[in-house]
Amino acid sequence: MAERSHVWMPFTHMQSAPPPLLVHRGRGALLELDDGRELVDCISSWWVTLHGHGEPAIAQAIAAQADELEQVIAAGFTHAPGEELAAALVRRLPGPLDRVFYSDNGSTAVEVALKVAVQHWRNRGHSGRTRFIAFSGAYHGDTFGAMSVGARSRFTQAFGDLLFAVDFVDYPSTCREDAGVEEREARSLEQLRLLLEAGAESYAAVIVEPLVQGAGGMRVCREQFLRALQELVREYGLLTIYDEVLVAFGRCGALFACQKAGTEPDIVCLAKGLTGGFLPLAVTACTDQVYASFMGEMPEATLFHGHSYTANPLGCAAALASLDLLEARWDEVERIEAHHRAALTALADEPALTRARLCGTIAAVDLCLDEGGGGQLLAAELRRRFLERGYLLRPLGSTVYMVPPYCIQPEQLDGAYHCIREVAAALAAP
Ligand SMILES: Cc1ncc(COP(=O)(O)O)c(C=O)c1O
Repeated sequence: MAERSHVWMPFTHMQSAPPPLLVHRGRGALLELDDGRELVDCISSWWVTLHGHGEPAIAQAIAAQADELEQVIAAGFTHAPGEELAAALVRRLPGPLDRVFYSDNGSTAVEVALKVAVQHWRNRGHSGRTRFIAFSGAYHGDTFGAMSVGARSRFTQAFGDLLFAVDFVDYPSTCREDAGVEEREARSLEQLRLLLEAGAESYAAVIVEPLVQGAGGMRVCREQFLRALQELVREYGLLTIYDEVLVAFGRCGALFACQKAGTEPDIVCLAKGLTGGFLPLAVTACTDQVYASFMGEMPEATLFHGHSYTANPLGCAAALASLDLLEARWDEVERIEAHHRAALTALADEPALTRARLCGTIAAVDLCLDEGGGGQLLAAELRRRFLERGYLLRPLGSTVYMVPPYCIQPEQLDGAYHCIREVAAALAAP
């Protein structure tokens, strides 16, 4: 690597950050560093690597597509992988989610969802429906719309004045052996009902991370809550947007969170695992009913949104190959969930750990430690200790979580849990 890197890293205090680790190869759950070390990637490199690094079936699908058509303008043109992927997703998504809009990443999938929701109402003559209801602790991405519907935090602090106003309702997060969850769910629904009673006609949609709030701390909510939420939102005639950027494609233990919860959102955002972690691609899927609002005679009915790489054929080919693999290897998802369940049960006797939670292949636990410095210092120290032991884990404050690639081996998972226990106990020791 060059003496001085010119790369500006994301979410990184460049003044104090240690130099980045140079990765030269990824295979399965392992990242091979230039200095010869190997790391077990327990977080799928920001939750994207679905099957494993270097998965040959996806690499080959991309290579074959590159040989045919690498890219074409998406307005006025289409191509086989784009059409096939849209049809494959529509076949698998529950309810009438029939239309697929492509973009590039989770944030853009959310931006598109917000714009579609607002314009849906406008095209129907309700131009006053421009507000959103979101959840405390939410994270939907780093573009301005996505930041606006996310929790206000140090991530958004510098841009506070530029974010549009959103009403927030408590996310009724739960964990194992949580006696108070029903009460918290009822409180959240009551907060929502009060907002809707006061002015349902000013809202375009409710946006939620279903089943798991990711960056907010791997906070899990129950399927029952999502069903009650849907009922209430329907009663007042708003749209529901599911941000499934993290939870889809087996992460939550089902192909989609809406499928697992038995709910039918109007708009669903997908990204991250969509291409198996190979290429940036995102989808905003919506119902025919929402789509129909954009069918008016007037040109103003158009959804004026698009990106240079919209529906990139390489990304679509990767996503098709990834979907095939996922369905062929679904038992891996179940194996990982069972492994997490047993490991979290075993960790219950560790006094330094608390609030274990599990949703499909996502497992999390909190350290009983003073977070100090808003959690940054603790998270950085934890990260350093995990790396030292050969595990890529990236805690969120005092929350340590795993979102592993599905090829991860039982002994690698055991090693990661052992490492978490060891580090937590060492840090908690007086
Ligand atoms: C639920 C959710 N939505 C949206 C995003 C933003 O996705 P991206 O980083 O691809 O823009 C994330 C990223 O972590 C996410 O977890």
